[in-house]
Amino acid sequence: MFSISRRPRRNRKSGAIRDMIQETRLSVNDLIFPMFVVEGTGIKSEVSSMPGIYRHSTDLLLEEIKELQDLGIRAIDLFPNYAEHTKDRLASESYREDTFYLKALTAVKEKFPDITLMTDVAMDPYSSDGHDGVVVNGEILNDPTLEILGKMSIAQAKAGADIIGPSDMMDGRVGHIRQLLDEAGFSNTSIMSYTAKYASAFYGPFRDALESAPKFGDKKTYQMNPGNKREALIEAQLDLEEGADFLMVKPALSYLDIISLLNDNFDIPVAAYNVSGEYAMVKAADRNGWLDGRKIALEILLSIKRAGAKVILTYFAKELAGEI
Ligand code: PBG
Repeated sequence: MFSISRRPRRNRKSGAIRDMIQETRLSVNDLIFPMFVVEGTGIKSEVSSMPGIYRHSTDLLLEEIKELQDLGIRAIDLFPNYAEHTKDRLASESYREDTFYLKALTAVKEKFPDITLMTDVAMDPYSSDGHDGVVVNGEILNDPTLEILGKMSIAQAKAGADIIGPSDMMDGRVGHIRQLLDEAGFSNTSIMSYTAKYASAFYGPFRDALESAPKFGDKKTYQMNPGNKREALIEAQLDLEEGADFLMVKPALSYLDIISLLNDNFDIPVAAYNVSGEYAMVKAADRNGWLDGRKIALEILLSIKRAGAKVILTYFAKELAGEI
């Protein structure tokens, strides 16, 4: 006979006890569903590298949001797919008053006032260079980009955005956007800053969805080096000081340590973006019968939350909403 006084297995002996002591639980309230909108009507086209995820025209997008709402989803993040001929060096389409993305935002907000509507602020969907900033002689210029991001933010706030999501990684953009929003009377519009956004290969399928891949080079002069952790603290400190309401880490799964670090060191909520490549990997393996995609997705999201994320942006939101 062994005398073992501490037997942690006792707390795992039944489903009821396991559920009773479970520390982290997912809820549909945690999730933001990223969605893609395209100009036109009657369009619903699947993103080939993201099975189950579609680009909708605004009319069908509204129908889809009704379905999401019935499933309990309360927040979406909308990204636009712009045709190549509308793009230019300065992303001027991004703040043209009657551009389809801004009209789609207004339509969503009018029809679904209770849905929290997040938007994306960055030049890449509208840029003929496919970069998040203004390109001059191959260089991504910081301060001229801020002016464009500012105009884009005001236009989106006017159109009905509840949360502005600057995903560009330019220096000083949160402070600049906060100031402009306040001056324009949008002091209630929130900012979820892409605080620690890494130069990652996990964004591939998203760039397919938006047809927004960079035309040259990469994004390493603005997005963070995956080898760095302390640098995330600097970015977070700046975003907090500049007025961000949420700090985001992106991607999520390979950056759980960064989520945990920011959650330990800052008191505003940390969000994590479970990005397109993370979604595509699970779907591909599931389709091959190599793993159970549903269970894997639930485990991934639980891990992201356990690491310290209060909010998770995930393409799995719709399919899992009924189960959590
Ligand atoms: C671009 C942007 C990207 C994503 C969100 N906003 C891609 C990039 O930086 O190239 C990626 C989202 C995903 O992969 O799901 N501003």
